[in-house]
Parts: sequence; C-alpha cells; structure tokens
Amino acid sequence: MSWREEAKRSVALRAVSELVKDGMVIGLGSGTTMVYVVEELAKRAQEEDLDILCIPTSYQMRYLALKLGLRLASLDEHPEPDLAIDGADQVDGRLDMIKGGGAALAREKVVDSCAKTLAIVVDEAKLVGRLGEKNMPVPVEVLPFALTPVLRELKALGALEAKVREAGPGKVGPVVTDNGNFIVDAYFGPIEDPGQLDKAIKALPGVVETGLFVGMTDLLFVGTKSGDVKVLRRG
Ligand code: A5P
Repeated sequence: MSWREEAKRSVALRAVSELVKDGMVIGLGSGTTMVYVVEELAKRAQEEDLDILCIPTSYQMRYLALKLGLRLASLDEHPEPDLAIDGADQVDGRLDMIKGGGAALAREKVVDSCAKTLAIVVDEAKLVGRLGEKNMPVPVEVLPFALTPVLRELKALGALEAKVREAGPGKVGPVVTDNGNFIVDAYFGPIEDPGQLDKAIKALPGVVETGLFVGMTDLLFVGTKSGDVKVLRRG
C-alpha cells in the first residue's frame, strides 16, 4: 500500500474513533477516503451495537453503507446531522477546500453545510498554500441546458480553461452527476479569494453548485507521510 493510501486509512480510523458516538446522525461525504470511513463506521456500529443513522451524499455511499449494514436517513427527517465526515481534493491554511473530484460536490455541500460539525479527512499531499495551485480545477456542477453559456461565463470570470468532464471507462461522453447534471472543470490557477470566486460562479444562471467550500470545515484530520495523524481546528 502506498503512503497516501495508508494515510487515508489512518485518518479515517482516527476520525471515526474520535468523533462518532452512539445515537448520532452522520452525513457521509464521497470518494475513496470515505470508503475507509464507512467501513470503520460499520465495524464500530456492529461491534459496539451503536444506534447511528447515515445520510449519504452519493449513490457510491448509499450502496456501500447499505451493503455494510448501516441504517440510512435523509435531511427531510434530520435536517441538522450531528456530524458530517468528508474528503477533499485540496485544503488551504484557512481549511477552505476544493472538492468535487468524484462529482458529488452538490450533495456534499448541502449535507456538509447542515451538519453541526464538519470533519474533513485528507492525506498531507492535499494541503496547499493557495487553492487552485498545482493545476487543480474548480469543479462546477452545471445544468446540461446551460453548458455552453456557463463555459463562456467562466472564461469571462478569469478561468484560463473550462471544459466539461469526460467519463472514464464504462461510459462514453460526459460525466453525468447523481443529480443528472454535467461537471465543468474550471482552471483558474492559484485563487486569491476563494469566497468571492465561489459567489461569482454560483451567481451564473445554470450553475447548480461549485466545488469551493469556504468557511465550512470545523476539524481537519491530516494523514502524514510518517504515519501520524494531525488534527487541526478552525479558528
Ligand atoms: C467527491 O466529489 C469529492 O468531493 C471527494 O470528497 C474528494 O474528491 C476527495 O476524494 P478522495 O478521498 O477520493 O481523494
């Protein structure tokens, strides 16, 4: 296993053991790090007979949680989950993030923003000085109907490049999100003011959500190359 894979596993185990308590309603982000989180959650739920409910942010998490015997709920029944745990693609010194590498950003932003506590689990290679550096795009979920105008407007907002994300093996054509929309990857380079850019993109007609998560993280669990886990708090 590579150090990054080990680090994902370590942060997942640490976050679940430190944060999850009996009786909680927990939002589940999406992605590969979250697979370790959900596996650990299911293990603890079974071993300790915990009464927990999970609110998934994607089909990936919905079917994994069901397969592992976790009980599901929705924001309709629990609009304020006790906790959400989620991964990220980049995190800066203010704990702001770029998310959406797995195209689940819209539901993630809803669930993460509703939770009383948002804990993010990453390996240290995802820490950056400025969001958008290292050629990391800002993923933007867009109504298919609005694709071409949104691509133009993203360029007008300063994107050096903006392109619709193509699906990998298993599907031809564009990625279609769990909400039936497209993902546009917009390359801005290092972003000076992520909050302002988030608002500007969100204001474009046809944009459903952006992958800029600003001022939301409460706790950051970072898995390091040396095998330690560091915990950072916002504030
Ligand atoms: C899903 O759309 C994303 O926001 C993920 O949370 C993010 O891409 C991190 O995924 P990994 O844990 O797979 O790196």
